Amino acid sequence: MGKQYEAKINALLSKMTLEEKIGQLQQCGPSLVGAFEVSFDELLDMMFDGRISKEEFDKLMAGAKQDFHEDDLRAGKIGSYNGIGDAETVNRLQKIAVEETRLGIPLLFGYDVIHGFRTMTPIPLAESCAWDPTLWVETGRLAAQEATAGGVHMTFAPMVDVAKDARWGRVSEGAGEDALLNSDYGVAKVKGYQGEDLTKPDAMVACVKHFAAYGSGEAGRDYNRVDMSLQRLRDEYLPPYEACIKAGARAVMPAFNDINGVPCSANKWLLRDILRGEWGFDGMTVSDANAVAECVNHGIASDRRDAARQCLETGVDMDMTSNSYIAHIKELVESGALSEKTLDESVANILRVKHELGLFENPYQTSVEREKTAYLTPEARQLARRSAVKSMVLLKNENVLPIAAGKKLGIFGKLADSRGEMLGPWAIGGHSEDCVSIVDACKAQGIPYIYCDSTEQAADCDVLIAAVGETKDLSGEAASRASIELGSEDIALVQTLLDTGKAVVVVLFNGRPLAIPYLAEKAPAILEAWFPGVEAGNAILDVLLGRENPSGKLTTTFPHTTGQCPMYYAHMNTGRPGGKSKFTSKYLDTPLEPVYPFGYGLSYTSYKYWGLAVEKAANGLNVTVYVKNTGERGGDEIVQCYVRDLVGSRVRPVKELKAYKKVFLSAGAEECVGFHIAYEDLGFWNNDMHYGMEPGDFVVSVGSNSAQTLNQTIYLDC
Ligand code: BGC
Repeated sequence: MGKQYEAKINALLSKMTLEEKIGQLQQCGPSLVGAFEVSFDELLDMMFDGRISKEEFDKLMAGAKQDFHEDDLRAGKIGSYNGIGDAETVNRLQKIAVEETRLGIPLLFGYDVIHGFRTMTPIPLAESCAWDPTLWVETGRLAAQEATAGGVHMTFAPMVDVAKDARWGRVSEGAGEDALLNSDYGVAKVKGYQGEDLTKPDAMVACVKHFAAYGSGEAGRDYNRVDMSLQRLRDEYLPPYEACIKAGARAVMPAFNDINGVPCSANKWLLRDILRGEWGFDGMTVSDANAVAECVNHGIASDRRDAARQCLETGVDMDMTSNSYIAHIKELVESGALSEKTLDESVANILRVKHELGLFENPYQTSVEREKTAYLTPEARQLARRSAVKSMVLLKNENVLPIAAGKKLGIFGKLADSRGEMLGPWAIGGHSEDCVSIVDACKAQGIPYIYCDSTEQAADCDVLIAAVGETKDLSGEAASRASIELGSEDIALVQTLLDTGKAVVVVLFNGRPLAIPYLAEKAPAILEAWFPGVEAGNAILDVLLGRENPSGKLTTTFPHTTGQCPMYYAHMNTGRPGGKSKFTSKYLDTPLEPVYPFGYGLSYTSYKYWGLAVEKAANGLNVTVYVKNTGERGGDEIVQCYVRDLVGSRVRPVKELKAYKKVFLSAGAEECVGFHIAYEDLGFWNNDMHYGMEPGDFVVSVGSNSAQTLNQTIYLDC
């Protein structure tokens, strides 16, 4: 991609001063200035540690103004902004760049559009449970249409960090614990965001993040070190990033963490050898926020100057908000400590992406007029509702759901009527007032209900709904938890409701797997709603009242207790697989199996699987299985195909997802579902760091979740 612009890029580079080149690498956010002496971050810290109250904080914010550093912009010292998403400001700043700087190079505006811009759709972890690439493209497209109306050119998404540890708060931002699902999810988002043609004013660049393995920080603590074999990194963590690059993603963000001792922003092996060398990436990289400067904290750079040199040499093209490049690159080049050629390469990468976006021809890609009608259209709301329905996972149902028409609902719990919580983490452009809570939806739809504080109030209700789980601030960035157990207040509430003897339905809101063994045992029905976005209440009622048949399946394992983390289905067998005898790999105080396994999810109908057949073909395996809808209503079933390599030169996972298909079956209907698994996909990285498949027995498993499958063994020698 992008080769047609090289002559233009070189011509421009030859005219640029050193300062102008460095300016292109500088991404800044608007700073808040107001009646406070400290930085915005410091102010936030002051509120969090109680030095100032929330009210004082809000008061200071109300008086604060945004500073866009316009003098620096005029001087050609800014190439990009982060976090501005309104047409008026974007066009005003763009006009300065185009008309008032010496060379008129347009700005690039980046923004965290993670699960919608204004029409917030379900968080990525939720949406991944739909196992539906077509849907992922659609919501990605919607996000791009809205974000570009606000002037955004690049989203810092998709996040394709495989996340196996539920303690990590950012599991909410990705597609769960499996590499294949993260790859498919990422590819779909790249297509949705970038569209068919990046020069179109409703297309934005996808910045794939966080490269690499950010989801694997020790102890689930955000930003923590990652230490793993290169084989594991290659087998389980790198494939989703590679898939996104192959799908045409034009930007990449290196992760905050180190890998095996080298922070990703200074990791030449990752950014030069693999990303640009092996995968042929010629787009731009942008550091994570302040990550260049943080190389000093990591202890691999002596100061910011050293950090700037190392990161630029590594190929981090743009410095997000650390101001290290703008402060030091000039002197580094002038003193000969850094070659100008290295600088030119990074500038060229950024200019290439600006060209590909069509910014040189059309720097003003939106207008205040366009923006006026761009958000929350009826179609957007419809898609938000549909995607929320498809994302929900029915975890348990003992004949309680769906709730029959006319039944009176007693609604309980802090999350039943908190609109803002429905947005979930990373919803910068979302507004609380756009959201429909469960209570709002009941009111608007004329469903008989009482929003109760006590069970006495619910005396004449037929079904009690407990809306419990996490508030949105408990997941997302910097929201790791040392305990993922459901809160004691929530458990007490459910207990009280169960004591009434009435039918109880738990609706769970959360951005990570929660440890819910109590609910799994006692509650008659559990609907995992995650953070469903603006149409939350409507979508939840669609499922609870049976207007829609739930079909979501977990993309992340639900452990019994935090101590089992990281817990994931594709684990190794160990030399002593867990069993009855003492000296096997297990816990004394908790079961070995999860509460709910990967791939699990119920429906209002039931499915029967039989007739698994596995045959060798020229390039891979042909797998077929019969699936029948044995219940009384139509439904979508997500058929999953796993493979285990029984004997390898390195230990292999007990199963790995290799294919899946969502099929609609009307009541009584059956279908022969087929998969093709390429031999190429049955390989792994061996001790000599070569990828390939080894001959031997393979177990092919097909079923409705990772723990319930039909199995067949086949010998493969190719
Ligand atoms: C996050 C990134 C995000 C960036 C810009 C960082 O703190 O790690 O995921 O894109 O901020 O807002």
